[in-house]
Amino acid sequence: MTKTNRVVTETPYLDQKPGTSGLRKPVKTVQQVHYTEKFIQSILETVCELDPSNRKLLIGGDGRYYNNVVIPLIVRMAAANGFKELIIGKKGLFSTPACSAYIRTHKCVGGIILTASHNPGGPDGDFGIKYNVANGGPAPDNVTNAIFQKTKTRSFYNILDPVDISISKIGRTVLETDQGQVVVEVVDGVACHEELLGTIFDLPKIKDYLLQNNLCITADAMAGVMGSTVHRIFGDILGVDSSHLIRCTPLPDFGGSHPDPNLVYAAELVTTMESGKYEFGVAFDGDGDRNMILGKNGFFVSPSDSLAVITANLDCIPYFVGKTFAGVGRSLPTSGAVDQVAKKLGFAIYETPTGWKYFGSLMDADMISLCGEESFGTGSNHIREKDGIWAALAWLSILASRQCSVEEIIRSHWKEYGRHFYCRHDYEALTTEQGAAVMAAVNNYTAPDCSLPAMGVTEVISCVNFSYTDPVNGDRALNQGFVFTSVTGSRVIFRLSGTGSSGATIRIYLEYYSTSEVDGNAQEILSPLVEFALLVSDIRALSGREAPTVIT
Ligand code: G1P
Ligand code: ZN
Repeated sequence: MTKTNRVVTETPYLDQKPGTSGLRKPVKTVQQVHYTEKFIQSILETVCELDPSNRKLLIGGDGRYYNNVVIPLIVRMAAANGFKELIIGKKGLFSTPACSAYIRTHKCVGGIILTASHNPGGPDGDFGIKYNVANGGPAPDNVTNAIFQKTKTRSFYNILDPVDISISKIGRTVLETDQGQVVVEVVDGVACHEELLGTIFDLPKIKDYLLQNNLCITADAMAGVMGSTVHRIFGDILGVDSSHLIRCTPLPDFGGSHPDPNLVYAAELVTTMESGKYEFGVAFDGDGDRNMILGKNGFFVSPSDSLAVITANLDCIPYFVGKTFAGVGRSLPTSGAVDQVAKKLGFAIYETPTGWKYFGSLMDADMISLCGEESFGTGSNHIREKDGIWAALAWLSILASRQCSVEEIIRSHWKEYGRHFYCRHDYEALTTEQGAAVMAAVNNYTAPDCSLPAMGVTEVISCVNFSYTDPVNGDRALNQGFVFTSVTGSRVIFRLSGTGSSGATIRIYLEYYSTSEVDGNAQEILSPLVEFALLVSDIRALSGREAPTVIT
């Protein structure tokens, strides 16, 4: 019989406040004495308070470095805190969308997901611990705040003596503990998600379309957790030869790459697509919730446009056919492309703060069926996380139904709805003080009597500090970014990132809408907005940086 111990710890760590998507820290930080244990204990206590009746917990992860240490730790701590059924993905692998699907279909109380998403991994990289609630979505602010409160006074944690469990094989182990039996079940981390996707899309139709038109497609899992899902769905079901499925073996350090599917970090896929060999290409991030879609010759689909196009083509996706479509959600900095579609088709549209957690309550209340973020996140109410492979299959469904190329679909969309030129400039790894100084400079423009400079020749009508009231539960989220809006609807938005593991990252979002110049050059069209952003933020002087770190 395995025994429970209460370990009394020294002074609490005061830096365990979850950000946009869980607690993200450098590996070196979470390796500090009792650091992880204290945070996990705070999660487990909060979960027990939220639902004292359900003791079934999922433990997932993106395979990054240190997961193999923390997974057994969570097993011992969850068992010591009274959890009775623990579900773990084989080898600890469980993509974020697959976790959401599993939690929902198997009625778990929630899940602890070990991921820092698209942040680099390895001993010098980042680690992440995220809690998802029973609806399968990221814990809302009231839950993460409760967890944070507990970390501030944490003085002990509960842990079982070491147990002998192998997570490399599917199967069930029953632990005999001084608290009774605890079942540890190692499951196929892909199966449940794969099954769900099979009910949403007509996969044989996509396969036929590729075959009949002799089209080649490619996917890049960026050495993240999505590799096996890609092999199963693209390879086994859609018949794509494995030579076209790249970086599909999950690696603890993502092969040294930055597993973020954008034009900068997924440059390899861009180059491959530019060769013209492939009709369609997609890249996924470390935990499989993000996606980047590229068409033939490297034609880039901006994530905001992707959401708009999917919304305009619901009839190509069996899941939506014959159902009442509730509405669409997009985060504040996501372009208004989807708003144009919602307006025309008569759908409700909701603008939320950044972070998927804000979509959860709207989906639970059947107010939205689809949602997306400019940060390469797209998804629907089939789960409560964004879903990279879902987005890829949504696009393939549209291609198969409309029988035209990605570029043709986007260009005809722009013709019909106008084009939202869009760009994001990130200034990464500033000091906390530099980040605060930039935001303070921008904040000056929110003063009611402040005169606002023009965006090029266009008058700017407002600068607002965005706040949000959840229409379902009334929860408030304040200080979600500064939004400058021009008289023609252009927007320049400033936000501090909430997913960095240290220092500050400033994100500047630039958006310009046009119905007449849809084939224009984005860089030229957005240049007055860039000048405006530099002027109002004084970011060059305040950060000492001449240019952004990443432009996407
Ligand atoms: C970033 C993205 C945001 C996304 C989050 C988690 O958060 O901007 O849209 O939900 O990652 O993937 P940020 O670092 O901007 O707070
Ligand atoms: Zn992610």
